[in-house]
This record gives sequence, structure tokens and C-alpha cells, in this order.
Amino acid sequence: LARGALPRDLDGRHVVVSAGGTREALDPVRFLGNRSSGLQGYALARTAAARGARVTLVAANVALPDPAGVRVVVVESALQLREAVLSAADRADAVVMAAAVADFRPAGYRPSKIKKRDGASAPSIELVQNPDVLAELGARPHAGQVIVGFAAETDDVLANGRAKLARKGCDLLVVNQVGADLAFGRPDNAAVVLGADGSSVEVPRGPKEALADVVWDLVAARLDG
Ligand code: CTP
Ligand code: CA
Repeated sequence: LARGALPRDLDGRHVVVSAGGTREALDPVRFLGNRSSGLQGYALARTAAARGARVTLVAANVALPDPAGVRVVVVESALQLREAVLSAADRADAVVMAAAVADFRPAGYRPSKIKKRDGASAPSIELVQNPDVLAELGARPHAGQVIVGFAAETDDVLANGRAKLARKGCDLLVVNQVGADLAFGRPDNAAVVLGADGSSVEVPRGPKEALADVVWDLVAARLDG
């Protein structure tokens, strides 16, 4: 389907998309990070804009050009991403959490570079848990607002996905089927989109734009219905 043939069914809507992967600083030169490329989140932002939405894209450590007509808020850490997403979400019709948010961050930031010393033992890194942004969005009253999460599961994909959807209180959960070939950095993706209403929509392997359009179809149906 050509983009021009798509409905402008998100006209007048404001949507927030998070993309990329957070970095948790250890010292001025080092961080703990993950392999998220941001491709799926950027595809979601692009397709939402094409369907008429006003889009706020919260981007964590992504090496991709800004999508045209989209407001991009650049963040680095999970705590920064939380601030940006929660403040934009106040006025949003939908929030899609495609970012890979670090579950843990170093307990203490070292303002000077950690040095090695001959004979001294290697330092260990103490971690503390980050707030769960999606669970916070799901837990606060959000009538009329659609909350979408992502999850990558390797085993018991559907059972784990259902449990995660309930735990996070979201309306839709996109469960990536990751196996031998990981979704990270690839232009295509396969997924099952689970709904809090018990529904499930299987999306065959295809471009990340195609998965994004299915997500917006389901979001638009919930906003209109
Ligand atoms: N997420 C979030 N804040 C976190 C961690 C995750 O908002 N601190 C969001 C992600 O953006 C994603 C969803 O939660 O949309 C699921 O992330 P996932 O890592 O699969 O779930 P977790 O609850 O962290 O469980 P797991 O132990 O499997 O990592
Ligand atoms: Ca996690």
C-alpha cells in the first residue's frame, strides 16, 4: 500500500514515541548501554506523522536523521527519558514505548575517570533499579489515552507477553519474536500485538514500517471506539 493511500486517521492527535536505548553513565567517559538502534521507534514516528498525528519523539542515543515534521527530544539516561516521556504524555492521546530502557543504572556516578592501578583488584559496579516508565504510565489514570509497550521475549512468547501486559497495565503490548536472528539493527521485524481486551494480532516478518502501521491501526481504533 502506498503511503499516500493511507488514511489520515491520526489527524488532530498527539502521540509520544520513545526510541533507541538508554545509556547509564559510570564516569565521564563510560556507560552501560544496549543494542537498540531506534529503527522501530523512528518508523513509528514517521508513520504516525504520515497519518496526520503531531508527534513527540523521545530519542535515546540514536544515530538516525530526525523524521520530517516530528518534534525530537534528545535524552541519554533512563531517568532523563522518564522525565521527557511523562511530561509529554500529559497532553498525549497515545504513548508508545519502543525504547529499550535500562533496567539498572550504576549506584554512583564517578565525576572523574575511573583509573586502573597496578596490583589493585578490578572494581565492581553496584547497580540500582531504574523506574519502570511504562508501568508508571499504565498505573496512572489514562482514560482516553492509549498506552503501548514493547517486549522482546525468547521463550513462552505469548504467556510471557500476556503476563507482562497485565503487570504493566498497558493497552497494547508488541511482543517481538526474537530467536536466532535478533531484531536489533535489522530493517524488518515480526511480532504479535497483544491487547488488554484479550485480542492478539500476528504481524508477519516485514519492514518495521508495516509493524508500525498495524500498531497505529490498533491505536486509532481504540481512540475512535
Ligand atoms: N520499560 C520502561 N521502563 C523500564 C524498563 C522497561 O518503560 N525501566 C518499557 C520498555 O520501553 C518496553 C516495556 O517496558 O516498552 C517492556 O520492557 P521489557 O524490558 O521487555 O520489560 P521488563 O519489565 O523490564 O522485564 P524484563 O525483566 O523481561 O526485562
Ligand atoms: Ca527490561
